[in-house]
Amino acid sequence: MTAQTNPSRTADIDTIVERLQDMLSDDLTATEALLIARAKSPVDVIPDLSGYIVSAGGKRLRPMITLAAAHACGGANAGTHALATAVEFIHTATLLHDDVVDDSDLRRGKKAAKNVWGNNASILVGDFLFARAFTLMVETGSLEILRILSDASSVIAEGEVHQLAAASRTDLPTEEYLAIIEAKTAALFEAAAEAGALSAGPQGEQYAAALASYGKNLGLAFQIIDDALDYGGTTSVIGKAVGDDFREGKTTLPVIIARRRGSSEDQDFWDRALDPEQQAEGDLAHAIYLIRSTGAAEATLVEAKAYAELAKAALRTLPDSQWTKALSGLADFCVSRAH
Ligand code: IPE
Ligand code: IPE
Ligand code: MG
Ligand code: MG
Repeated sequence: MTAQTNPSRTADIDTIVERLQDMLSDDLTATEALLIARAKSPVDVIPDLSGYIVSAGGKRLRPMITLAAAHACGGANAGTHALATAVEFIHTATLLHDDVVDDSDLRRGKKAAKNVWGNNASILVGDFLFARAFTLMVETGSLEILRILSDASSVIAEGEVHQLAAASRTDLPTEEYLAIIEAKTAALFEAAAEAGALSAGPQGEQYAAALASYGKNLGLAFQIIDDALDYGGTTSVIGKAVGDDFREGKTTLPVIIARRRGSSEDQDFWDRALDPEQQAEGDLAHAIYLIRSTGAAEATLVEAKAYAELAKAALRTLPDSQWTKALSGLADFCVSRAH
């Protein structure tokens, strides 16, 4: 699983994403402007810190999903732009909080905000962005959209707490791992797609459930790939430190599969090494070796692909359009990150 494995396929898929960015060019410009304008505050740390993480890049996957879902259902409007901004603010707030919780030093290829401004400022600015997201959602004028994103927000927090409570449980069942990632990651993808559809107007109601299913399955595929990249990616490509999950003792799918397939000696290794207090030099390299040699890396990819296929299948209830094609391409993109 390196960035070089399949260059031609990746190039095709990069084109799909660039094309979606082109198709959404005006909408993304409006959203980017709102991301800056709506983080304004007379308290300088707020625009400084939020401007730092927002301008560091990020793939903007979730707002693209919101905008494309709206277009697939008749068109994006000013409410959709407010919603796309709210979705990215919620995502940004969770990243600020997540890097404190995970003690991660690198985010979007730069020092994590907590390493520049400190944990306290990161948490509080995260709270500010989270609250601003709700103001933006109110501006859509839809109580249904507000309900969807409010529910998703509590589910995300629940997922993060669930993960914390499961820390270093090397015998974590796959179903429980899936429940955690469905909550912490897929819930926002699901809400982004469903609310995007609803923001388009009456036609959106007809397809909201299909787009919700698309978002949920895409989110699951996306997080499984992210978890694979923690062992098989490169820092320069993922913009985060490789091995963060391991150092922290997170039991993710590649670990679950490798431990299940391993010898009893391998299982002892996982049980010791996933306890951050007992980790030793060379453990991460050995973990990567076990994940590859047991075929767990490949099996993880197969699992992610299955969810991406479910996401694509959910789109088939919508009328074919350039937007459904682009959303389908986004599912391929999420999986292709691990090639
Ligand atoms: C990071 O999400 C958090 C996860 C759910 C794994 P992204 O990989 O979408 O983050 P950015 O926005 O592109 O930085
Ligand atoms: C993503 O979880 C954070 C949320 C979805 C809230 P991770 O901890 O796995 O993501 P990264 O690897 O830090 O981006
Ligand atoms: Mg993290
Ligand atoms: Mg991760």
